[in-house]
Amino acid sequence: MIAEGKIIEIRERASIVEVISDHLTLKKMGRNYLGLCPFHAEKTPSFTVNEEKGIFHCFGCGVGGNVFHFLMQYEHLTFPEAVEQVGKRYGITVERLDRPAARRDAEEIESLYHVNERAAAYFHETLFGRPEGKRALEYLKARGVQEQVARRFYLGYAPPAGQGLVAFLRKEGLSLKNAVRLGLIGERGEQHYGEKFFDRLIFPIANAGGKIVGFGGRVIGQGLPKYLNSAESPLFRKGASLYGLFRAKEAIRELDRVVVVEGYLDVLALSQFGLSYAVATLGTALTADHVRILGRYTKNIIALFDGDEAGRKAAARGFEIFVEGGLLGQAAFLPKGEDPDTFVRSEGKEALEAIIEHAIPLADYTFTWLEGQHGKSIEGKSRIAQEVRRLLAKVRNPFEVDLLIRRAVDFLGIREELLRLPARPPGGQRGIASPAAPSKPLLTQAREDLAERSLMTLMLRFPSVIEQVEREGDLERIVSSGWSEVIQKTLLEWKERGKVDGAKLAERLAPAQASQIAALMLEGQDIPEEDCVKMMADCLSHLRRRFLRGLERELRQAIRAAEEKRDEKTKKERMLEWQEVVRRERQLERQRLVSKTEIR
Ligand code: UTP
Ligand code: MN
Repeated sequence: MIAEGKIIEIRERASIVEVISDHLTLKKMGRNYLGLCPFHAEKTPSFTVNEEKGIFHCFGCGVGGNVFHFLMQYEHLTFPEAVEQVGKRYGITVERLDRPAARRDAEEIESLYHVNERAAAYFHETLFGRPEGKRALEYLKARGVQEQVARRFYLGYAPPAGQGLVAFLRKEGLSLKNAVRLGLIGERGEQHYGEKFFDRLIFPIANAGGKIVGFGGRVIGQGLPKYLNSAESPLFRKGASLYGLFRAKEAIRELDRVVVVEGYLDVLALSQFGLSYAVATLGTALTADHVRILGRYTKNIIALFDGDEAGRKAAARGFEIFVEGGLLGQAAFLPKGEDPDTFVRSEGKEALEAIIEHAIPLADYTFTWLEGQHGKSIEGKSRIAQEVRRLLAKVRNPFEVDLLIRRAVDFLGIREELLRLPARPPGGQRGIASPAAPSKPLLTQAREDLAERSLMTLMLRFPSVIEQVEREGDLERIVSSGWSEVIQKTLLEWKERGKVDGAKLAERLAPAQASQIAALMLEGQDIPEEDCVKMMADCLSHLRRRFLRGLERELRQAIRAAEEKRDEKTKKERMLEWQEVVRRERQLERQRLVSKTEIR
C-alpha cells in the first residue's frame, strides 16, 4: 500500500511521454505522440500517447491506461512497484505502508548490485592504474582496442595473485557472502575464499539500466577456457542479458535497428569503428527473451552470422527463436571464417555496413534453407510444408501469418492451402487457424455497445454529460453489463472530486477497462462541444429503447409461460407491465422523431 496522496503527486508530476520514451521512440503527431506498440508486432505506429491527459492507448491491440499501467505491462511490475519506479525517476521517494518483506528484498538486490559495482571498479582500476594491469593493457593494444574504447566499456583486469578481490571487498567492508552469491568468489572452507576470475581481462556486463549484473573474463592470449562468465545469480541470467545494450540503446532507438553479434570483442570493435548499435549474446545462441528485450527498442533486429556451415545452421534455427519473441528478424552473413571484429579491422566500416544493409528476412532465408535440406521432391515439399506450418503456428500476428504464407508460396512453390492447414500438433500446439486473440479487451469493440462507448467518451470529455447521466439515475441498469461498473465508478469519482480525471479513473478499473478508457479519451478529444448535447441525447435514447425492447421481450415470454401454466393472476400482472413498457417505448420513439425534425 502506498498513500493515495503520493500516488496522485507522482502521477501529476510524471510526464507519461518522458517515461514511455525511456523505453521506446515516440514522435509527435498533432496533439498526440505516436510510436510502434511494444505489446504487439506492428510496422506502422498505432501506439498513441497523450501528454495532457496522461494516458496511452494502442489502437492496434487495445492496451492502454496511465503511466503506471504502462510500466506494469511493459516491465511486468505490480502497481506499487510501478508507482515507485515513476516516483524514483522524478526524485519522489515512496514509503510503502506495509510489505517490509518486499523492501528487504529490494535492499538485498541493491546490495548485490553494489558488490558488483565495487568489484568492477576494482578490476578497472587494476587495469589502468596498477603495474599488474600492464600485460592486459598490452594485450588490448595488440588486439587493436583503443584505450578510449576500453574505458567506455569499463574493462578491467583481475590480477593473477588471487585474494586480490577478496582483500579489496574486505577492506571496503562489503559482504563476502554476497560476492559468493554473485559467483565472484567461491568458498573454500572457513574464512577461505577463492576468486573466480584471475589473470583475466574483465568485461563488466550491464543491464539495460546500466547496472552491472555479471562479468565475462578472457584469458590474456592463449589458454582455456578462453572465456569465463559469471554464474547465474539473482542479478544475472545469461539467456536474457546482452553485452553492450546499455551503451548501444540510444543509437539503437535513433537508427531504429540493432545488430546482434557473438563476442565481447566484436561489440568493442564495432563501437570503435563507429557502429554503436551492436550488442552481443553471451556465449549462448539468441533466445526469445533476447528478442523481446531488443524489441522494446526496435523491431529491426539483424543477427550477424559467420558465413560458414555452423553460422548458416544457426541462422536457420534463429527464425523460430524470433517468432517466439514476437518478431521476424533478419540475418546478415560475413565471409566464411570471419567474425565482426576481424572483418571490420581488415575491410573497414563501409564494407561491414554494406553487409548489414544486405540483411535478408530470416523467414526467406529459412524457407530457402528448408528447401536445401529436404529437396524439391514431393516428399521433400510435404516435409517442408509441415515444418513451415509448425513455425507459422508460433506467429501471433495474423497479418504476419498472411505475409509469411505468401512468401512461402513464392519461395517454395507450395500451394497456399497446404500451408494454411493447422499444424499437426506435436504436444498440442495451436494451429494457424486459431491464432491467439490479441489481448482481448474486457469491454467489447462490437457494434452493440457503440452507444455505451460513445456515452462514455462524452462523459470523459464534458462534465455536463456526467451531470446528465447522474440525473438519469438508472443508467447503470440499462447499459450492457461490462459498462455498468465503469459508469458507476465514473460517477463515484465525480461525486468524490467534482471532476473526472481519466488517468485517475483508470486506476480504479481492471487493466482491460483502463485500456478502453484511454482509447475513448483519445477518440473524444476532437468532439466539438456543440455536438455534445445531441450526441448524448442520441445515446441515452438508444440505450433506453434497447433496454425497453429487452424488457418487452422478457415480458412477452413471461406472459406466454403464465398462459401455459394457466396462471391467470400472473398473466394479468405481466400484461399490465407489458402495456406500460410499450407505452414508454412509443413515447421515446415520438420524442426521437420530434428531436430529429427540430434539428433539421
Ligand atoms: P569466440 O570464440 O568467437 O570469441 O566466442 P571472440 O568473442 O571472438 O573473442 P576473441 O576474438 O577470440 O578474443 C564468442 C563469444 O562466446 C562466448 C563469449 O561470450 C565470447 O565473446 N564464449 C566463448 C564463452 O562464453 N566461453 C568460451 O570459452 C568461448
Ligand atoms: Mn573474435
